[in-house]
Amino acid sequence: MKRVIGIDLGTSNSCVAVLDGATAQVIGNRGGYKTTPSMVAVTETGRKLVGHIAKRQAITNAENTVYAAKRLIGRKFNSPQVMSAVRHASYRIVEGPHGEARIALRSEILSVPEISALILQELKIVAEDFLGEPVEQAVITVPAYFNDNQRQATKDAGLIAGLDVIRIVNEPTAAAISYGTSQREGTTVAVYDFGGGTFDVSILELGKGGVFKVLGTAGDTFLGGEDVDERLVDWLVAEFEAEHKVDLRSDRMARQRLKDAAEKAKCELSSVSSTELNLPFIISNERGEALHLQRSLSRAKLEELTADLIDRSIDICLDALSDAGLEKGDLDDVLLVGGMTRMPAIQRKITEVFGREPNRSVHPDECVAIGAAMHGASLVGAEKKPLVLLDVTPLSLGIMTHGGGFDELVPANTTVPTSRVKSFTTSRDGQTRMSIIVQQVAKDREGERELLGEFALEGISSKAKGAVVVDVSFAIDANGIVAVEASEQASGKKAAITVEASSGLTKPEIQEMQKSAAHAMDERRHGEAIESERQAAQSLVGEVERLLENLRSSAGDSSVLGATMAGIEAVLSQAKLLTDGRDPSKLKALLPQLERAAQMLRSLGN
Ligand SMILES: Nc1ncnc2c1ncn2[C@@H]1O[C@H](COP(=O)(O)OP(=O)(O)OP(=O)(O)O)[C@@H](O)[C@H]1O
Ligand SMILES: [Mg+2]
Repeated sequence: MKRVIGIDLGTSNSCVAVLDGATAQVIGNRGGYKTTPSMVAVTETGRKLVGHIAKRQAITNAENTVYAAKRLIGRKFNSPQVMSAVRHASYRIVEGPHGEARIALRSEILSVPEISALILQELKIVAEDFLGEPVEQAVITVPAYFNDNQRQATKDAGLIAGLDVIRIVNEPTAAAISYGTSQREGTTVAVYDFGGGTFDVSILELGKGGVFKVLGTAGDTFLGGEDVDERLVDWLVAEFEAEHKVDLRSDRMARQRLKDAAEKAKCELSSVSSTELNLPFIISNERGEALHLQRSLSRAKLEELTADLIDRSIDICLDALSDAGLEKGDLDDVLLVGGMTRMPAIQRKITEVFGREPNRSVHPDECVAIGAAMHGASLVGAEKKPLVLLDVTPLSLGIMTHGGGFDELVPANTTVPTSRVKSFTTSRDGQTRMSIIVQQVAKDREGERELLGEFALEGISSKAKGAVVVDVSFAIDANGIVAVEASEQASGKKAAITVEASSGLTKPEIQEMQKSAAHAMDERRHGEAIESERQAAQSLVGEVERLLENLRSSAGDSSVLGATMAGIEAVLSQAKLLTDGRDPSKLKALLPQLERAAQMLRSLGN
């Protein structure tokens, strides 16, 4: 039987798991890491880098390194969320042919699903290396609060990566699967998932026989660790500007270094109460003098700067609870998921609001992928005990009325799969075409309706007299994906529907991207080995240079050492010419010599 992998495609980190024997386990990559940074970069020579290798070069190649692409997936370029990313990101976001957000990387413009596909491919490779066989099927998770466009775009990413996405599952639901075992039947839990980019909460009832029933869900796809980091960056920028009259945001590299340092400080402050930020030579002033950023940051300050973000997550939790018709006291457990839940202020707040310590038994970074793998196995019958997921749609689905209003067909928090039929009557005699605009909207956010598609019903039997009734059925499947069909009531004849994708990719576009991704995958496997050799050579060059300098100042004029140093210098200058990666085979041949030189210098230094 073919194996199904479970993929948590995160904003900051992605993770892949598979059922191995009776239990699902996360698969580590070649470097031993269990999660892969969701980062993609294009090097000077046009090579694509994914994951750790992309993260390592982010500072020196900020403009061509993409992070947090998940915040852009399935979104229109002119949406407020994308506009905010345009202001903050160090890479360039442009408008695509369907009005969607795309990313410019050197000479290429990539769609967001293509960026995500590169990450998915990376995880596919990790899984294949581990299993020793090709992997085709996957369950991919998305934030519960993703709308149809975002879900479709995630599925497209899977297709481009050469994966058959057998199910899209909501992240908190996947986390609950990894937590729920038979001993927990009959309990009600809240899954609080504060990740890098999104905040999600779901209230679930763990029923008998592996039934997971979602009672309510709520979230915010623009509330995450990225926003916490951004708060710190804003503060640092303001303080620096007050002191030096220089705007650190004006320099991409400074911005990237700042963002990195802010995130690092935030993580440190989860375990210590104060930390130092130290960024020498961050920027220069008008007179060309180098400026340094150095300051200490306390946990209390971090908490003060971000308190409203945490409060917002708690409000969303309480909303989900009330949608589920429950009180705080009805919860048996609050599960913590997502890297941000390591922040003590979050744990404290939950304890305070819910009157109980949160449950930290699931691994915050791994449980979503594990749940996805368990669900995948159950879908293809590889698990003895099937799982039954009764999830809900987080958003309400409806159509735009003539006056521009909203006619709700499926309310938020309806259990999926579900379908509704609505009858429409033609408004004038002889009418053969009717157009319907389908929208999705978050509760209390009437003004921010998301266009899912326009459906034109064509070929309606044109009666000379009297109106024709057309039944339009709207269905949401188990993936949370919307489908629409229309038929004439009297004849039962199906009217043709044309769907104009609102911001998605067309089929031919996806096929084209799929082809180039498959080709790029082969090149990448090869390219990555080269890039890691290049990075290794670069760091050895730095080390050898430094050791050589030390030795020179202490060696005096020993002729033996002089000859040795001259030999090393020759290797060094050759290597320096090659660290731009233009001649990888020559550089590879030079690596052992560099390594020997470094070893010798290290021993002389002792
Ligand atoms: N020790 C820590 N203290 C505070 N924050 C942390 C810690 N470790 C990781 N984080 C933060 O957690 C976030 C990443 O969490 P996670 O990996 O769960 O997100 P994700 O799954 O990629 O994103 P999402 O689920 O929103 O798509 C980052 O913002 C990271 O800085
Ligand atoms: Mg996550």
